[in-house]
Parts: sequence; C-alpha cells; structure tokens
Amino acid sequence: VATSDLPDLFRRAFRRQAASVTVVSYVDAGGRPSGMTATAVCSVSVAPPTLLVCVNRAAQAWSHLVATGRLGVNILALPQHEIANHCSRPGEDKTLRAAWLLAPAEGRRTPVLKGALAHLDCEIVRAYPESTHTILIGQVTDVWLGAQDAPLIYLDGAYSTLDQGPERSYQAVWDQFTSAYL
Ligand SMILES: Cc1cc2nc3c(=O)[nH]c(=O)nc-3n(C[C@H](O)[C@H](O)[C@H](O)COP(=O)(O)O)c2cc1C
Repeated sequence: VATSDLPDLFRRAFRRQAASVTVVSYVDAGGRPSGMTATAVCSVSVAPPTLLVCVNRAAQAWSHLVATGRLGVNILALPQHEIANHCSRPGEDKTLRAAWLLAPAEGRRTPVLKGALAHLDCEIVRAYPESTHTILIGQVTDVWLGAQDAPLIYLDGAYSTLDQGPERSYQAVWDQFTSAYL
C-alpha cells in the first residue's frame, strides 16, 4: 500500500478493535473534578499495580494531569455513554457533574464516577512522549470496585455493549458442547 494511505487504513483497522471505554478523571486548576474519555488504557503489571494511558498533549486534560501528577481511570458501564460523550466534546468544558460522582473518600485523590465498573486511583510516575501523544505510567494507589454491569464498548465509531455477560456466554458454549457430544 502507498504510505499516504496508511493513516486512513490505520484508523479503519482500529475502528474494528472493540475497546472498553474509560473516563480518565483529574482535578483541574480550579479544583473542579473533570474527565477525558479514553480507550488507550492498558494494564501493565500487577506487582506493583501499574497501568498506562496514552494522552494527546493537545487535549485540555494534559496540562491538568501534568500539574497534579495524578489520574483516575473509570471503567464505564453501558448507561454511562452520556458521560463518555460529555468528556469527549472537543474544546468544551470537561467538568464532571456532582450527580455523576461518588462522595470523595479518604486516600482517594481523583474523581470516582458513580455507576462505573471500577475506578483506579493513580500517581503518574513516568511519561514517554510519542509523536502527538504521551504514554503516562500510573502507579495504582487505590482501587474501587462498582457493580459488575454490562460494559460500555466503543466499536466502529459507536457505543455498544457485549450481548451477554461472560458467565452466560460460557454457559452457552458449554450447553452447545454437551448437547452435541454428551
Ligand atoms: C471513544 C473515545 C476514545 C478516546 N480515547 C482517547 C485516548 O485514549 N487518548 C486521548 O488522548 N484522547 C482520546 N479520545 C479523545 C478525547 O476524549 C478528546 O480528544 C478530548 O476529550 C477532546 O477534548 P479537548 O480537545 O477539549 O481536550 C477519545 C475519544 C473518544 C470519543
């Protein structure tokens, strides 16, 4: 393929990668709880608990993350698509509404979205610039687990979810196996 075609093909390839949607939360310079929608989030290691987030340095979130040295990763549930939209509108205010938030708890330094599947509170310990983005390494200092609901998935430029929870999918495979062979 021609090199000029690569960016478009790259985008089209990644539109096919089903991604769990998160909101990276932080406190802005005015002390307001804020968030940026992100799918480029990945666990790195368990000992110590470490994750990475790729952040566009042109995003409003960037300077606040650098200033506070902390980030929260909220793994979103399906009903939170409205929050994902709010936190991804270019150039708009990214303040998180009070009704969306869990009350602050001792030891937790970044905003927690009520109804999220999980929240990981992190200290930013390293930053690796790469082209337009910087890979931020977060050392996890606190974890909050919400209910085990249906996840919010981003696929082919739209929000969706998995048809079934994992237990039910495994059960369906097992039922097929037993009816065919046993
Ligand atoms: C589904 C989805 C996933 C996104 N993932 C990322 C990401 O991983 N990293 C990032 O820097 N921006 C990501 N963005 C874009 C930011 O959310 C968006 O650029 C930012 O909120 C735009 O606002 P700003 O330019 O006003 O800061 C994503 C957007 C959407 C809709």
